Amino acid sequence: MLWPVALFLPVSLAVLGPGGSCNSSKNHLDPNTHKFISACSDTTFCSAIENGTCTRRLCRRDEFPFGYSSTDVLPTLCPTGTFCPDEGDGCKPLVPVGGACQLNRDEQCAAPMNWDTLSSTQNFNGAICLHSICMYANATFEAPCITEETTYIETDDNGQQFSYTIARDNCSPGLYCPPNIKTCEPTKPLGATCQSDQECELRNCAFGTCLEPPETPFRVQPWQYAIITICVVGAMVATIMLLTLIHKRHRLERYRELCEYHEEQSSLRKAIISLHYAAVDQKHQD
Ligand SMILES: *[C@@H]1O[C@H](CO)[C@@H](O)[C@H](O)[C@H]1NC(C)=O
Ligand SMILES: *[C@@H]1O[C@H](CO)[C@@H](O)[C@H](O)[C@H]1NC(C)=O
Repeated sequence: MLWPVALFLPVSLAVLGPGGSCNSSKNHLDPNTHKFISACSDTTFCSAIENGTCTRRLCRRDEFPFGYSSTDVLPTLCPTGTFCPDEGDGCKPLVPVGGACQLNRDEQCAAPMNWDTLSSTQNFNGAICLHSICMYANATFEAPCITEETTYIETDDNGQQFSYTIARDNCSPGLYCPPNIKTCEPTKPLGATCQSDQECELRNCAFGTCLEPPETPFRVQPWQYAIITICVVGAMVATIMLLTLIHKRHRLERYRELCEYHEEQSSLRKAIISLHYAAVDQKHQD
C-alpha cells in the first residue's frame, strides 16, 4: 500500500530547476497577487511553448533579483532601449504604441516624443501599459480615456485576506479618468471629498477626503519648532535654578553649623577663663 503517499506529492506545484521539462503556455499571473507564475523556478525560464526546458534566465529586471543567493552569478540588467520581461528570457526592444506589454510594466513601452511633459509618477516617461497594450498617457481634459482596475488579494501575517484595487488610466498628468464618465477630469487637491485614490492629486483618498499619502515625510511646522525650543530652554533653566537652590541650602546649613561650632568654642573658652579666675581668687584668699 504505497500509493496514498504518491497522492501527497505536490506534483503540480513543483518548481523546476535547470533542465526540468515545461510548457511556457502554462505561464500565467497569480489571480490574487498578479505575480508571474511559471513551472520553472525564479532563476530559470521555460524555453518553449510546448516540450520546453527550464533554462537559466538571460536577464534580470531588479538590481537584487528574487531567488538568487549571494554567491550566484546574476544575469545581466538590460541596456537602455530594451527591457527584461517577467520571464527573464532575454532583453527585448521597447514596445511601440499599440504593442503588447505585461501587467504593471510601463517601462516595457517606448516613450513618446514629448515624454517630459507627460511623465508623472503614474506612468513611465509618459508611456503606460493598460489592458496589456502600450499607450501614451496623453489624453487631454474631457477627452475620452481608458482605465484599468486591478484588484490585489493578499494574506497578512495573521492569515487574514485583504484586498486593494489600483486604478490606472491614460489621462495626462494632473487629470484622472472617472470610471463612470470615461473622460479625463482634473484631479482633486488635498482636503477635497473623494471616493477613490486616483481622484486625488497625491493619489491617496482616506475617510472620503484627499489626504497626504502615509509615506509623505513628516514636516515639522515652525510653531512646533518654537514650542520644542521653549520647552528645552525652560527645562534647562529650571534644572539650573533647582541646582542653584540646592547649593544655596547646603551652604546655609554649613554656615549654621560653623556658627554653632564657633559659639560652642567661645562659650567653652569663657568657661575655662572664669574657672581660671576663680582658681586665682581662691589662691589669693588662702
Ligand atoms: C511534444 O512532444 C510530444 C511527445 O513527444 C510530441 O508528440 C509533440 O509533437 C511535441 N510537440 C512539439 C511542439 O514539439
Ligand atoms: C496620443 O498618442 C497617440 C499615439 O501616438 C496618438 O494617436 C493620439 O493622437 C495622441 N493624443 C493626443 C491628444 O495627443
